[in-house]
Amino acid sequence: MSAASFSAKVAAKQNLAADICRIDVALNGQDTAHRPHAGQFYMLRCWGAGETPVLSRPISVHAYDKNSDTLTFLFQIKGEGTQKLAALEPGDALTVTGPCGNGFDAAALAAENKKIAVVGGGIGTAPLLQLCAELAENGVKPQLFVGFRDASYGLDAFAPYCETIAVATDSGNEGHHGLVTDLLDAAAYDIVLTCGPMVMMRGVAKLCAAAGTPCLASLEKKMACGLGACLGCTCHTKIGPVTVCKDGPVFPAQEVFD
Ligand code: FES
Repeated sequence: MSAASFSAKVAAKQNLAADICRIDVALNGQDTAHRPHAGQFYMLRCWGAGETPVLSRPISVHAYDKNSDTLTFLFQIKGEGTQKLAALEPGDALTVTGPCGNGFDAAALAAENKKIAVVGGGIGTAPLLQLCAELAENGVKPQLFVGFRDASYGLDAFAPYCETIAVATDSGNEGHHGLVTDLLDAAAYDIVLTCGPMVMMRGVAKLCAAAGTPCLASLEKKMACGLGACLGCTCHTKIGPVTVCKDGPVFPAQEVFD
């Protein structure tokens, strides 16, 4: 389905950590032909055509509530664009373009797999909430493994949708002291779904390859158009060049990792 672009309003905002912001965006029944599923993202902007930054920011769908027709985005504040998005207050307008990308087919994943592990790292956990919710809705509560530098954030929201939640931190401040991949027994699952830093996803892919367990990875890349037009997010994979924004961001791990 193609993406739509329209103006929407911020319904709520909350800071989950010093550099982590969550905003709810009310779609208010606009353009109902375009609604997201897990793993998709939107290009967001709240600045004019002549203002900086030039490009909209790709932000993954953290949650979508059908009842209130509200999108939730969770993002890390790390540049001018995300600073401007984080400065929005309830009632402020922004332009949303999407949903973009292939995302995860949670219904098919839940139909074909009984034991699913979901592995996230840092802000890469953001799209995994909608993924866990859709898997649970389709009858399979996944086991969640998440890694953070020092402290987790946003995990309460996952609890209703996950069979178990295991946390690792680099500092040892919370949960397992070490890598989230230390906690994963890939052979115990029918499939592993992952999103986070490339080094973490490469580790997950390696464990899955050794265990013979399929793995899907959601990649992140700098994006200009988000729609497959500029080729700026091209990634060279074993099946040839692909655009992360349109062909992905979700790919079989064996196609993108050695
Ligand atoms: Fe333009 Fe992906 S960002 S093709």
